[in-house]
Amino acid sequence: MTTSKGKRVLVTAGAGGIGRAIAEAFVADGANVFVCDIDATALSHMQAQLPGIRTAICDVADRAAVAQMLADATSALGGLDVLVNNAGIAGPTASVEEMDHDAWEAVLRVNLTGTFTVTQKAIPFLKRSGAGVILIMSSLAGRFGYPNRSPYATTKWGLIGFTKTLSRELGEFGIRVNAILPGAVEGPRIQQVLAGRASASGRTIEQETAAALGNQSIKRFVDPVDIAALAVFLASDAGRSISGQLLPIDGDSQSAS
Ligand SMILES: NC(=O)c1ccc[n+]([C@@H]2O[C@H](COP(=O)([O-])OP(=O)(O)OC[C@H]3O[C@@H](n4cnc5c(N)ncnc54)[C@H](O)[C@@H]3O)[C@@H](O)[C@H]2O)c1
Repeated sequence: MTTSKGKRVLVTAGAGGIGRAIAEAFVADGANVFVCDIDATALSHMQAQLPGIRTAICDVADRAAVAQMLADATSALGGLDVLVNNAGIAGPTASVEEMDHDAWEAVLRVNLTGTFTVTQKAIPFLKRSGAGVILIMSSLAGRFGYPNRSPYATTKWGLIGFTKTLSRELGEFGIRVNAILPGAVEGPRIQQVLAGRASASGRTIEQETAAALGNQSIKRFVDPVDIAALAVFLASDAGRSISGQLLPIDGDSQSAS
């Protein structure tokens, strides 16, 4: 049974990682999907592999580009039912005392202001949908403090406030808004983090992996496919009474690092 049949879905930063898994899951579930990303090569590979998907190059931190992308997406899809605000960058690793100011602002521009801009432009279309859905990609770093990752953690906590506020503002228009909070996700990003920790500590990558999983009840990193399944569920009619919620998907992690 498909739950997304005919739904018009926009996924930001959908050419790789979690966003790509989400776009693929919506396509498999019968949705019409539009993906934006800054990576032109990844977008063209995706279009070749998933015929029918529509794409645009767009940096969510560029307000003019976002306005154009929303116009293109809603025209290609014939409206909009589901917005997946997936775009987010990891930013630098440094203590607050040593944080570079420009690096701090770069993370805020993508993670917070980018999400705000895309959402603001999408709201008129979602109102017309009658059953609009907004998903916002926060993180485990939006539940705990995260030493040496202050811009990332601050933006991911900020997105919780954005989710809660949007849900209150938009419920009367039949629009539901929820945040997804993934923990450590299997893929190149976590492997790089573990390799970095191993070279700093002198331990092996296996030892660093065991230490990271020691923080979780479920002893494996999150599969992007599971995050995608949660997104499809939240966007479906089965989720019609769920709004303003924060949904961790992190193997029951007890801290952000
Ligand atoms: N990977 C994890 O462990 C993890 C954990 C928790 C939350 N998250 C969140 O999930 C989301 C996706 O993470 P990921 O690990 O899949 O990301 P990723 O680093 O794999 O990047 C995914 C895509 O984002 C695109 N992108 C980067 N900056 C962009 C911008 N300014 N505008 C448009 N596209 C842009 C990239 O080109 C890439 O195709 C992010 O919001 C991230 O913070 C990730």
